Amino acid sequence: MDLIKIMDDIFYVGANDPERRLFDQLIPLPDGTSYNSYLIKGSNKTALIDSVDPSKKDILVKNLKELRISSIDYIIAHHGEQDHSGAIPDVLEIFPEAKVLTNEKCKTELMDLLLITDDKFIVIKDGQEISLGNKTIRFIFTPWVHWPETMLTYLAEDRILFTCDFLGSHYATEELFPDNTGKIYEPAKRYYAEIMMPFRSIIRKNLEKIKDLGIDIIAPSHGPLHKGKDFILGCYSDWVSDNVKNEVVLPYISMHGSTDKIAEYFIKALEKRDINVRAFNLADADIGEIAMALVDAATAVIGSPTVLTGPHPKALFAAYLVKALRPKLKFLSIIGSYGWGGKMVDMLAEMLGSLQAEVIEPVMVKGYPKDNDYRLIDELADKITAKHKELGLL
Ligand code: FEO
Repeated sequence: MDLIKIMDDIFYVGANDPERRLFDQLIPLPDGTSYNSYLIKGSNKTALIDSVDPSKKDILVKNLKELRISSIDYIIAHHGEQDHSGAIPDVLEIFPEAKVLTNEKCKTELMDLLLITDDKFIVIKDGQEISLGNKTIRFIFTPWVHWPETMLTYLAEDRILFTCDFLGSHYATEELFPDNTGKIYEPAKRYYAEIMMPFRSIIRKNLEKIKDLGIDIIAPSHGPLHKGKDFILGCYSDWVSDNVKNEVVLPYISMHGSTDKIAEYFIKALEKRDINVRAFNLADADIGEIAMALVDAATAVIGSPTVLTGPHPKALFAAYLVKALRPKLKFLSIIGSYGWGGKMVDMLAEMLGSLQAEVIEPVMVKGYPKDNDYRLIDELADKITAKHKELGLL
């Protein structure tokens, strides 16, 4: 998106990044992303909301030039992460009169990460309002959504809530408001799963803070904007709730075919029992897809062969991912194979121990699965079925 007028005196001045394929050298970006920055021209003061990733600073500067902005009074920094804050030093160089409005924690981060000096800041408080003349901005602190300093800005007169990472999506598009929310559902869920899910209970409390605000537009700093609040707040209410679905997520990997065979039989056993299975071969799985599947699933089972007495490193990575994302799983188990022994189950169980999920007895197969092993896999499927029934999912 280039420069776009959102409404009188409010402009999109950020940048699309449709070619970017990885975030934090970790998160796949199948739809690219955008770094949304907004300019509000009040009758007395002008404010810039966040900046852009340093790789796109030229686009932000070009957009400001096109608007013929002669001065900026305030740069509102919602978040210290550089995909939003990284071009603030460049804006300060062009507009040295500007002050960075942010909270104390974010100020420290910006001084540490971007070497912005103390004299450039005005520290604001939760709930504080600042007048731009005919427009008033109010700050709403939302710590740990997803860093300790994260916050939002509400523009009362125009009923716009600027949310930075919160309620965003990694989705590069030329449409400011996609006409079809179905296009946004999946990128928004992927974004929630990868970035916001570990903070589920904190997000739940913060949704309460904003649910009664009069909102015509939600303007995040990644992806398209939302018209009204119902769609995206409805999605988040569902994702952060304790409700789970009749689904098993199965990230697995095999070296010589034994764990493949176990996984294949297990998937069919679950499907025969009317349980939906989301299986991911870790040889080439997209971790964003796994994260998305974990948003709603009642159960996760990790499948691995034994490598040097422990799990396959890719299975260990999957277990770490599950632990780090803290999904609302109710049940966990492990399936896999071994040649002559090992501590694979112990190591995976220890990794997953901090999750508040009940562990259902794993099934480990010596070598290639045989009749008795298939019986044990069926028993595991029966146990999962019984647990899902207890929760009323089946
Ligand atoms: Fe989009 Fe937490 O940065």
